[in-house]
Amino acid sequence: MHLIFSIIALLFIGHGVHMHLCLWSPMQRGDFDISTPGAHPCYRKIGPCGNINSSSSSPRTPLVAGSKYNVEFQQNLNHYYTNFPGALDISFAVGLNPSENDFHVLHSFSDYNAMNQITQTNFSIEVDLPNQPCDECVLRVRYLSNNLDEDDHGTVFHQCSDIKLTQSLLNALKKEKENKVQLIENINRQRQEDPHDCCVSESYTNAFFHVIPAIDYKSEGIIYYDQKARQMRVTVSVNGGRGNTTVDGLFDMWMNFTSGMQYYYNYHSGTCDLYGLDFWNDWCFGNKYNQSEDFVAADVTCKSPFGPSQRCNQWQNGEFIFETFASSECLPSSITRPSGEQINYIQGKTDPISPSTFVPNPICLKQKKVKHASPRWMRFHV
Ligand SMILES: *[C@@H]1O[C@H](CO)[C@@H](O)[C@H](O)[C@H]1NC(C)=O
Ligand SMILES: *[C@@H]1O[C@H](CO)[C@@H](O)[C@H](O)[C@H]1NC(C)=O
Ligand SMILES: *[C@@H]1O[C@H](CO)[C@@H](O)[C@H](O)[C@H]1NC(C)=O
Ligand SMILES: *[C@@H]1O[C@H](CO)[C@@H](O)[C@H](O)[C@H]1NC(C)=O
Ligand SMILES: *[C@@H]1O[C@H](CO)[C@@H](O)[C@H](O)[C@H]1NC(C)=O
Repeated sequence: MHLIFSIIALLFIGHGVHMHLCLWSPMQRGDFDISTPGAHPCYRKIGPCGNINSSSSSPRTPLVAGSKYNVEFQQNLNHYYTNFPGALDISFAVGLNPSENDFHVLHSFSDYNAMNQITQTNFSIEVDLPNQPCDECVLRVRYLSNNLDEDDHGTVFHQCSDIKLTQSLLNALKKEKENKVQLIENINRQRQEDPHDCCVSESYTNAFFHVIPAIDYKSEGIIYYDQKARQMRVTVSVNGGRGNTTVDGLFDMWMNFTSGMQYYYNYHSGTCDLYGLDFWNDWCFGNKYNQSEDFVAADVTCKSPFGPSQRCNQWQNGEFIFETFASSECLPSSITRPSGEQINYIQGKTDPISPSTFVPNPICLKQKKVKHASPRWMRFHV
């Protein structure tokens, strides 16, 4: 589920632009910007490289053939689609402007459900680079969202980096072959459902604490979730919450999936932005509910510092570990990543939520200008 609310986020973008993926290690072709969710340079739909061609004078990152390399990129908006969950992958091709068929996939992993579209999630993925030197070659990251709401030039986001692979004396020849076998195993693996797979109660309120040690990020807030009413609200204070920026501010978000509107209110500046929503996602755990999460263990000691005496059930999607309290109706306990990033939830309440909780601030209701919306949303609303 949800790497809830890496609410680092949310600023602006011209309307009708949707974005999703940016790559900096190695640096992508063309412009680069991840300062806001929906940054224009992260929106590159047309394959194989987002309609940006390379030339022999383009900037080119030298890497060592056959070595291990951490590819670093950001999912700049999350479009998790429960009807047909998507994937991200890293691929490689030789040539200045290779065509789609020249690319072969080095690594692929499933999308995850952030339960909030305007979530920026960084990934650092280790790949084994091909063992063949090349002067002009391309490393590419794709977000295959599968999300029908995002279907203008297809539902895939592309980002290409121009690289060259230099010879290394230490190269082991077998790596690439091993990789291919692994890749095929991964793709063919059937996702198993498990009797522990579950969804949170129809109405659910709790507090969360989010830390990202690498960038000294700390936020805390409250989430309100109403499955029947198709409403969510998230209040969050980032890094003390005294300022008016995404790295130090106090924010309120209202998501109404009936109207398809998400409002993002900045308390200290008194401003409110409007986003068009993707489809509703139930807040669930496990493959039974198309969360791309494999069940790992039942009744283990919770990872959350708030629950050391509590028992948790555990699921995994790539490097994300999701835990729920084993004894309590599927209530979330934590999401953790190997980097030390953690979202911890205080055991929540399942009482009905007052409808007034979901009524946006009047300043928001005056906002008519859309900061971001999918192509389908724009067709219905504009
Ligand atoms: C890139 O090159 C391809 C093939 O030569 C061409 O069809 C396409 O128009 C070029 N795109 C841009 C943006 O220059
Ligand atoms: C899961 O996916 C299947 C097929 O892609 C779809 O028919 C089903 O409705 C989905 N289930 C949920 C809970 O979204
Ligand atoms: C993502 O990575 C960029 C570049 O290293 C960094 O500036 C940013 O703070 C990171 N964001 C998160 C949420 O980790
Ligand atoms: C959500 O949107 C629907 C449809 O526009 C509207 O009728 C309803 O009042 C909205 N709910 C809230 C709490 O604003
Ligand atoms: C944001 O805060 C800065 C410094 O506190 C202030 O100068 C600026 O006017 C504020 N901006 C808004 C839009 O309130």
